[in-house]
Amino acid sequence: NKPKIAVIGSSSMDLVVTSDRRPLAGETVLGESFETVPGGKGANQAVAAARLGADVHMIGRVGDDPYGTEILENLNREGIHTDYVEPVTHTKSGTAHIILAEGDNSIVVVKGANDHVTPDYVNKARVRLAECDVVLIQQEIPEETVIETARLCKELGVPLLLNPAPAREIPQEVIEQVSYLTPNEHEAALLFEGETLSDILKRYPNKLFITEGKAGVRFFNEQEEVVVPSFPVEAVDTTGAGDTFNAAFATAIAEGKALFDSLRFANQAAALSVTAFGAQGGMPTRTEVEKELNK
Ligand code: RIB
Ligand code: NA
Repeated sequence: NKPKIAVIGSSSMDLVVTSDRRPLAGETVLGESFETVPGGKGANQAVAAARLGADVHMIGRVGDDPYGTEILENLNREGIHTDYVEPVTHTKSGTAHIILAEGDNSIVVVKGANDHVTPDYVNKARVRLAECDVVLIQQEIPEETVIETARLCKELGVPLLLNPAPAREIPQEVIEQVSYLTPNEHEAALLFEGETLSDILKRYPNKLFITEGKAGVRFFNEQEEVVVPSFPVEAVDTTGAGDTFNAAFATAIAEGKALFDSLRFANQAAALSVTAFGAQGGMPTRTEVEKELNK
């Protein structure tokens, strides 16, 4: 019995340049390669969850351009339900302009059609959301949509996982309404300014999960602070690692796995995802994750 997951979020085309180093302001450098690959945090999470065996329903928008067609084809190829991924006329698809240099990425996101994932649009999918085990959302769509989704999921009694990326401030009521919140350290610092990590973890036991990259994930389990270590890998491209983590975490929770085990599963999936180029390249199947966990 597959867990049913809705992903509300962005779907974009990633325009990826690799270069020895990134240019300074006003500078031009010669890069090595250019690729276009499907991305966007929402679509990435949908793809990761589908590969891990979830029944995935994407709630998003694409432009009426060739990228939009490619993005939709890619989601369909991955077996994701796309009846709530409608094209927006006279609008470009979202794009992410990525430089891979010096072992890390820098990204400029242009929202395009993703700006049309509005509160009204999400409400059209209300019945679908009510049938889901978990709903997943991120922040490459309007803030009002995140606010409305938190309210709606609370009303429907469906657990919501908010991946607060990219970083922006979030109204306190949203933090209270969501079931799971997964900032990285940078996002956590913005959300809970001036507080120590331990204090905020204690305030949100089994709800706040701070991801610390290679160091793993940290949360408070009502008794003590727990760190779930990450799995060491040779990283080729870390783009999409966070998306894989969130999707895998949501899938495991939707299946009823315990929190610690869900986080281990998510760490393993994320580790595998960084071993290949592209946000979705390297995202593992269920079998691949389990094989590694059983080693
Ligand atoms: O999280 C990774 C994603 O963020 C990339 O695929 C890119 O689209 C950026 O928005
Ligand atoms: Na990858």
